[in-house]
Amino acid sequence: MNKIPIIIDCDPGVDDSYAIALANAAPGYEIRAITAVEGNVPASLTRKNVLCLAEIFGIDCRVAFGADRPLVRNYEIDRTAEHVHGQTGLGDIVLPPPSRKPDDKPAWDVIYEEAVKAQGNLILFATGPLTNIALALRAHPDLPSLLSRFCIMGGGTFGNSGAYGKKAEFNIWVDPAAAGEVLEKMDVYMVGLDATHACALTPADMNRMRELCGTSPKNWFLRSLTEFAIRNSEELGMDNNIIHDALAVASMLYPGMVTFEDCHVTVEERPGAENEGQTYVDFERKNGEKVNCHFAVKADQAAFAKRMGEVCRYYAEKI
Ligand code: RIB
Ligand code: CA
Repeated sequence: MNKIPIIIDCDPGVDDSYAIALANAAPGYEIRAITAVEGNVPASLTRKNVLCLAEIFGIDCRVAFGADRPLVRNYEIDRTAEHVHGQTGLGDIVLPPPSRKPDDKPAWDVIYEEAVKAQGNLILFATGPLTNIALALRAHPDLPSLLSRFCIMGGGTFGNSGAYGKKAEFNIWVDPAAAGEVLEKMDVYMVGLDATHACALTPADMNRMRELCGTSPKNWFLRSLTEFAIRNSEELGMDNNIIHDALAVASMLYPGMVTFEDCHVTVEERPGAENEGQTYVDFERKNGEKVNCHFAVKADQAAFAKRMGEVCRYYAEKI
């Protein structure tokens, strides 16, 4: 049976790494491309990390580089890397230079080419800022008609970032203009902070992941990443026990884990506004606003935690 093609546009990132691992371990799906966007860490690191992750997880797919800055940003942003993702973006793991080379085409053209090839079967994920997706839509306006599904980790009815207090979710906050363009043009499955926080892993869940990674030197990366996430969440109280991006990918690959409701979502796009990047989720659409989004309103924490354990076991046994 033909595998369902998927692409992950991301900003690795610890939780992006788990998302890629989960997608690659999911039976019946095939990663056609992984594309890098600037976000958790500068593009120089997210680009290196996507190349390394494809190699570490043994994924035979295109790896392409995208934007190294948001569409509109008139000031430097405070990154979460030092707190949540470590200096390299992959916890405290320092990887050698990748042996693979990136695609000679930019992310937005690779996404489009693979969408055309997939003939309507492609599921596109974005687990970082939406800059590359916005650029893909500008270059290829017919992209939405070529996709089976488009799912993001982003947004929410509350925030974890922002220049004036935590009103926005990080991925949207980094590039609100891109998010606005994407919500205008695409039908979006939005896995936001409401769902990801509902699936926060307990210390027992994370220790089980660590155990299931096993002791094989071959699975050193996922084991080290999990050990970093445990230390960072338990000792420093960072939110590494909330594996946001993996839930977004799991929501499409494991139907039923996440429940979505139709709504209309808008974003505060004004640079420098005190609520810049905040998403407004309107389920009632009293003024007849169109449904542009399916918002994740519920998620099965136990099923997600179990799945994350299975991902760790997969690599302990596979590589
Ligand atoms: O707000 C969480 C999101 O921002 C995740 O995608 C994380 O990787 C960061 O990109
Ligand atoms: Ca991310």
